[in-house]
Amino acid sequence: MKIEFKNVSFKYQSDFDVIKDLSFVINTGEMTSIIGPNGSGKSTITKLIMGLLVPNSGSIYINDVLVTEENILNIRKNMGIIFQNPDNQFVGVTVKDDIAFGLENKCIERNEMFELINKYSTLVRMNDFLDSNPENLSGGQKQRVAIAGVLAMETETIIFDEATSMLDPIGVEEINKTLKMLKKEASKTIISITHNIEEILYSDNVLVIDDGQIVAQGKPIEILSNIELLNKVGLDTIESVKLINMLEENNHKEIIEELWKLTFNM
Ligand SMILES: Nc1ncnc2c1ncn2[C@@H]1O[C@H](COP(=O)(O)OP(=O)(O)O)[C@@H](O)[C@H]1O
Ligand SMILES: [Mg+2]
Repeated sequence: MKIEFKNVSFKYQSDFDVIKDLSFVINTGEMTSIIGPNGSGKSTITKLIMGLLVPNSGSIYINDVLVTEENILNIRKNMGIIFQNPDNQFVGVTVKDDIAFGLENKCIERNEMFELINKYSTLVRMNDFLDSNPENLSGGQKQRVAIAGVLAMETETIIFDEATSMLDPIGVEEINKTLKMLKKEASKTIISITHNIEEILYSDNVLVIDDGQIVAQGKPIEILSNIELLNKVGLDTIESVKLINMLEENNHKEIIEELWKLTFNM
């Protein structure tokens, strides 16, 4: 799914724009990370993409078609979103019910439904938990069930809005594995709002948002080696140390030196 913003501005009830004349293109099958400080407008962008909010000015195009009140419901059927807190995403008594929830709304035949549940619970490695109560799962497992629920809808686009930020390192690692697999095998268009360096590193493109505007965009290595930018978007010290370790493996010596300076104010 190609997603294009042309000069999009948006404000809530307040009188200042939260999204300011924003233009970007996300191409079909690409994974794009969106990074930026808290309150910079990242979640607002996802709601604009999903058509849950409507721009005050400018236009949004999906697959080169202008999004309107008339076509948004159909467009939204091809998008899924996973939020920060997996606890808020559960409705069923069992994992199976939860994955089935969206499918029931789609009026899918029972056999087909079971096939989809099996396929996608296996893909996120949760097929042994189908009869479990979601409440008894770890955060990472809950998020994987939420991902399976969205995958089962077989939407073209999946948005992760800080889906790993509540998880412990093991949970983050579990989701990262799932995401990498999705990127490689499912050819989905993926948008990930994240503070997680690893996730940023394996995306195709990075958009850096500050105060409702794009302050930089490019390949992960371009963005992550821009120290001023890292400071601006508030990637913390621990994250930059992680980044240094990863870059060391790849022999980016100059970047490493700069990052050490940044990290320890040398
Ligand atoms: N429902 C809302 N009503 C009014 N203001 C909002 C609402 N949601 C978000 N905002 C404001 O819009 C700005 C951008 O918020 P948001 O898109 O949630 O940022 P981010 O996801 O980058 O943290 C913030 O200043 C926030 O306070
Ligand atoms: Mg947000």
